[in-house]
Amino acid sequence: MDITFLLNGETVTAQAAPTVTLLDWLRVDKGLCGTKEGCNEGDCGACTVMVTDDHGARALNACILFLPQLAGKAVRTVEGIAAPDGTLHPVQQAMVDHHGSQCGFCTPGFVVSMATAHLNGRSDHDDQLAGNLCRCTGYAPIVRAAQAAMNMPVPDHMRDTAPKADTPFAPASADALAAWYLDHPDGTLIAGATDVGLWVTKQFRDLGEVAFLHACTDLQDIEVTEDAIRFGAAVTMTRVLEAVTTDYPSFAAMIRRYGSVQVRNAATIGGNIANGSPIGDNPPALIALGATLHLRRGDAVRDVPLEAFFLAYGKQDRKPGEFVTAVTIPRGRVAHRVYKLSKRFDQDISAVCGGFDVTVANGIVEAAKIAFGGMAGVPKRATAVEAALVGQPWTTETIATALPAFAQDFQPLDDIRASAAYRLQGVQNMLQRYFADLSGTAVDVRGISA
Ligand SMILES: Cc1cc2nc3c(=O)[nH]c(=O)nc-3n(C[C@H](O)[C@H](O)[C@H](O)COP(=O)(O)OP(=O)(O)OC[C@H]3O[C@@H](n4cnc5c(N)ncnc54)[C@H](O)[C@@H]3O)c2cc1C
Ligand code: FES
Ligand code: FES
Repeated sequence: MDITFLLNGETVTAQAAPTVTLLDWLRVDKGLCGTKEGCNEGDCGACTVMVTDDHGARALNACILFLPQLAGKAVRTVEGIAAPDGTLHPVQQAMVDHHGSQCGFCTPGFVVSMATAHLNGRSDHDDQLAGNLCRCTGYAPIVRAAQAAMNMPVPDHMRDTAPKADTPFAPASADALAAWYLDHPDGTLIAGATDVGLWVTKQFRDLGEVAFLHACTDLQDIEVTEDAIRFGAAVTMTRVLEAVTTDYPSFAAMIRRYGSVQVRNAATIGGNIANGSPIGDNPPALIALGATLHLRRGDAVRDVPLEAFFLAYGKQDRKPGEFVTAVTIPRGRVAHRVYKLSKRFDQDISAVCGGFDVTVANGIVEAAKIAFGGMAGVPKRATAVEAALVGQPWTTETIATALPAFAQDFQPLDDIRASAAYRLQGVQNMLQRYFADLSGTAVDVRGISA
């Protein structure tokens, strides 16, 4: 199947199987070896490319990006960052001036991330570069380079216009996807490919028949009404972050630590729910909000409370041929908070992620929704803890009395991310943190000073 897109300003057509990654194609078929392979799993950013479509320009990891995801888009690799006459891009010149490179292996990825952030006018350099790892230069000279380049004009050649092209392997609407999935119930849906990409690059799995979701624009809407926000399943985590920033700043702060810019630019909210991972970061946050999941099979649609969707480890309430179309959350839950506990601040999978929403009226707890990822085989509510809180005064004494109930709710895993005892202690600490947070005490580790 032909896949047509713009590569460094020139139209190219790739003939490849649907699960060939952009990174392999660039390096093997095109001989464009500037884009590096470090981890081959989305963690290091050495393979960063810039992709432009109707939503604008985004940094993405080429190692977990399949060629069909690029049809009708514009790709810029590190070879296309300098001007056609060889003049260095401002971020490249700044990297030279500020000694931003030693061994240089990470440098192409940094340069593409920096050039994309530069194009988008971003000045939050630490966040923009959290998905690019450097092991020898250290970040200070690189961030200084990004700062130095910030006020330089964007070179004209960086403003790509995506060409119009067919989107092979990608149904063009939710209707078309529903029909395809009924016919291919054993087929694999691919949204952002931040999970599925690794099945190919790390597990060498043959995915069989696949359908990409990126052409279903009707699954990419965010509908905001007076009392709810509905996210289409194919909305990226970058857009979820933007959409919840005002209503749910604590949720947004967690998403800011979800993967990296490159991962959030690809990963979808629907993929994070449908994968059924016990350590996905959205489900505990959404369950605490009482989110509703919208599912579709053929023409039949149904809604389920998100917390009821996760049946057991690896098992969700989803029939063959059924897919997630959207998820809806209420607005105005001012006591909603999300805390992520991981070994590394940026770009790390959670040991535990907790979502909290406790309603207090006249000093008494009226209702409580407290949910965790990383504590069981599925994202799960702490019902015994909730029961220990409801009807009680909202005080430190009540919190202390409720803490032992966590052991009734969970027998957490011992694994490489955390021991069972650490997890249990961690969630108890989170409840105390939540109480302190609602009392107006600073609880963000970066906001506390001696
Ligand atoms: C480097 C890296 C860092 C990460 N960091 C985090 C993190 O901090 N927190 C976190 O929670 N996750 C993290 N992840 C995991 C991953 O990014 C998320 O789970 C992501 O949201 C998955 O979405 P996707 O669109 O990429 O899904 P895909 O990989 O495309 O699909 C995942 C699964 O969902 C299915 N699927 C996708 N869409 C639908 C749909 N609409 N209906 C039915 N099935 C569907 C697919 O068939 C597949 O089984 C990380 C991944 C990587 C590679
Ligand atoms: S090679 Fe590490 S993110 Fe792609
Ligand atoms: S310069 Fe060596 S990894 Fe960054």
